[in-house]
Amino acid sequence: MSGLLTKSLGRDVRYFEIVDSTNNKAKELAGFKGLSHEAGLTAAEGMLVIAEEQTGGRGRLGRSWHAPYGKGIWMSVLLRPQVCLEIVYQMTMITAVAVMRAVREVCGIAPEIKWPNDLQYEGKKLCGILTEMSAEADRVNYIVVGIGINTASAGDLIPPQITHQMTSLSEITGKPVSRVKLVQEVLQELEACYDSWLAGGFPELLEEWKSHCNSLNRQVAVKTLHEVYTGWSMDVNSDGALLLKLDNGEIKKFVSGDVS
Ligand code: BTN
Repeated sequence: MSGLLTKSLGRDVRYFEIVDSTNNKAKELAGFKGLSHEAGLTAAEGMLVIAEEQTGGRGRLGRSWHAPYGKGIWMSVLLRPQVCLEIVYQMTMITAVAVMRAVREVCGIAPEIKWPNDLQYEGKKLCGILTEMSAEADRVNYIVVGIGINTASAGDLIPPQITHQMTSLSEITGKPVSRVKLVQEVLQELEACYDSWLAGGFPELLEEWKSHCNSLNRQVAVKTLHEVYTGWSMDVNSDGALLLKLDNGEIKKFVSGDVS
């Protein structure tokens, strides 16, 4: 990719017209722990898998992610940080910050972060992030950060029943978006955030995350697989968990769910 200013992210690009899921492909190319990695048979940190279309795009909580041809940025980045499992969740938060910065820079709009990891604009979803990993004992073997950004008109993009919840960059700005420029910016911002994270900069990144989060300090409903809880969203901790003061005064911690 000419003009890319990163050291490692996106230096090895695996482009596909059609793939089931860029996350699946990245995991396949990452290979398995042990010999194949040592022998250099598996992809190195920074590999970018990107596709025009995903036929089996995946979202959080086992959902599918609609990713039609040319209508968005469907990308996954392979990372191999020497970190323990407990902090991997932070990578999703960092990615949200990086994509938010990139969209602001390239498109001149300021999306908000909706807990846990969506980017929204005026209450509609613009981007989703799916982080997956492989680990051995308590050490990370690799992390795959999957990013889906809707760039084309939401009417084309989304099955009719959920169109009202989704938006796209061209719908917001009224202009076509250069996907190449945006991918480059995402990679550059992601590398900057990742380097800062590895150097111990998570507290600052978390503050930036919170300052753009639209799910904090307000009355919300959190829907989990089985129940809906209502209360005051007090904070998000460094594990990415949402702390909710329930209407009965109890404080409850959520690691996943949907907030509204
Ligand atoms: C969500 O909001 O539920 C997360 C959606 C993540 C979608 C992206 S598109 C690129 C990558 N490949 C996938 O299969 N999913 C992620």
